[in-house]
Amino acid sequence: MAKTKGIEKLLGEEARYCSYGDTAHYLEKPIIFSECDGSFLYDHDGMPYLDLQMWYSAVNLGYKNKRVNKVVRDQLDHLPQIASQYLHREKIELCASISKQMQKSFQTKGRVHFNVGGSQAIEDSIKLIRKVTGKTQFFAFQGGYHGRTIGASEITSSYRYRRPYGHFSNRAQFIPYPYCFRCHYGKRFGSCKYYCVSQFEKLFETEYNSVLDTKTGECEFAAFYIEPIQGTGGYIIPPPDYFKKIKKILDHYKIYLVDDEMQMGFYRTGKFWGLEHFGVKPDVLVFGKSLTNGLNPLSGLWAKEELIRPSAFPPGSTHSTFSSNPMGTTAGLEVMKVLQDKTLEARINSSGKKFVNMLKKLQRKYKEIGDVTGIGLAIRLEVCEKDGITPNRRLTDRIFQAGLEGGLEYKGKKYGLVLDVGGYFKNAFTLAPSFYITDEEIGMAYKFLDELFSRFTTSNRRQP
Ligand SMILES: Cc1ncc(COP(=O)(O)O)c(C=O)c1O
Repeated sequence: MAKTKGIEKLLGEEARYCSYGDTAHYLEKPIIFSECDGSFLYDHDGMPYLDLQMWYSAVNLGYKNKRVNKVVRDQLDHLPQIASQYLHREKIELCASISKQMQKSFQTKGRVHFNVGGSQAIEDSIKLIRKVTGKTQFFAFQGGYHGRTIGASEITSSYRYRRPYGHFSNRAQFIPYPYCFRCHYGKRFGSCKYYCVSQFEKLFETEYNSVLDTKTGECEFAAFYIEPIQGTGGYIIPPPDYFKKIKKILDHYKIYLVDDEMQMGFYRTGKFWGLEHFGVKPDVLVFGKSLTNGLNPLSGLWAKEELIRPSAFPPGSTHSTFSSNPMGTTAGLEVMKVLQDKTLEARINSSGKKFVNMLKKLQRKYKEIGDVTGIGLAIRLEVCEKDGITPNRRLTDRIFQAGLEGGLEYKGKKYGLVLDVGGYFKNAFTLAPSFYITDEEIGMAYKFLDELFSRFTTSNRRQP
C-alpha cells in the first residue's frame, strides 16, 4: 500500500514536472519500472513483465548482462571520464574491432567515427556525405525511420514528425519500400518481376523526372538512406534480390548507399549486419543502440576509406562532448567480444524460427493475425480485421495496453507483457526479444498472446 502511494506521488510529480514531449505519454497510463533482469522488467510490486522488445532492440544481450555490466563497473574504477579530444585504449580497440568486422562482412576497408545517440550518428553521416559530394539531396524510403533531430527528420518519412517545425528544405525524396504484404503498386511478389525497382529506375529516364541532368549524367542526389529491414516501419523484410537491383542503379549514377543498422545491426537478424542477407556492400553504415547493450549510449558510423580518410574528413568535422565516452566504448568492446561467440548465430536463428512457428500457430487460430514473418530475432506480427488484411489499430492498441496492465497467469504467477507497436498503420507488433530468450519464455509469450487475442476477439475463431 505504502509503495503504491509512493508510485502515485511520483506519477503526480511526473504529470507536473516532466515534459510530455518524449514518448512516455504514448501510453494511456505511463508506467514506472523498478528492476530488470534477463528478459524481464519488474514493477514496484515485483511483478515481472516479459519484454519482447528489449528497449527497441538496444538490449540484445538481455538486461543486466553480467559480462557487459562487469566491464562497465571496472571502467568506473579505472577511467570513467576522458574528454573526446584525448585517446583511450578502448576507443581505439573498438574502432579496430568494428572496422575488422566490416572487412569480414563486406570485404571493405574503412574507419569508424563515434557519437552518442543514433540520430546524432545519422547527422554525422549526412555531414560526411555532404562534405564529400557537395550535394544535399537524398533518397530515403517511405516507412523509413532515421531519428528525430532536424537532419534525421528530413530523411524520415513520417510528416507527423516534421509538420510542427516549419520548412525542411532538404526533405528526402521518399521511394516506396518493398512492403510486399501491402505492395505500393498492388502487385504480388512472384509475378511482379520487381516492378518497384523498375519504377525507381524510371526516375533516371529523362531530366524531366527531376533527379538527373541527362546531358552531364550528373544526379542531384548524393545518397540513398536505407534500413535493410525496416524497423519502426514494421520489421519488413525486403525480397531477396531487391537491394542488389537497387545498388546496381545507384552505382551507375554514383549515388552512395548509407545503411542504417541502428536496429538491425549486431546480429538482430541472425547475421552481424542486416544488409549481409542481401549481397550488397554499403558505402557508409550507421550503428548505435545495442552496441553497448543499452548501457552508456554510444553510436557511430563506419565509412569506406575514400570517404573518411583524414584528408576527406579532417579533425573537427563533427564533435560532441560525450562521443567516444569511455563507459560506452568499454561496454561496446565487451559486446563485440560477446558477439564473437560462435554458438550465438545458431542460437538466434533457432530461437527466431521457434518464435515465428509459434506465431504462425497463433495465426492459424486467429483470423485477425494477417501476417507473420521473421529474420533472426526480428519478428513481425500484423494485426488486421477478420479479413486478414485491413489494418486493425484498435485491436493492436488494446492488446498492447492489456499486456502492460499485467495479471497474465503463468504457472500460478502473475506477469505483464511488453510489446512494441510499429508499422505504417500502427498495427504491427515488432518483436525483438533478448538473444538469450529461453524456450520456456517463448512458450510463455505464446500463452500470453493467445490469452490477449482470445480476450479481445470473440467470434469466428479458426481451429488451431
Ligand atoms: C533505424 C533507426 N535509425 C535511427 C534511429 C534513431 O536513433 P536514436 O533514437 O538513438 O536517436 C532509430 C531509433 O529507433 C532507428 O530505429
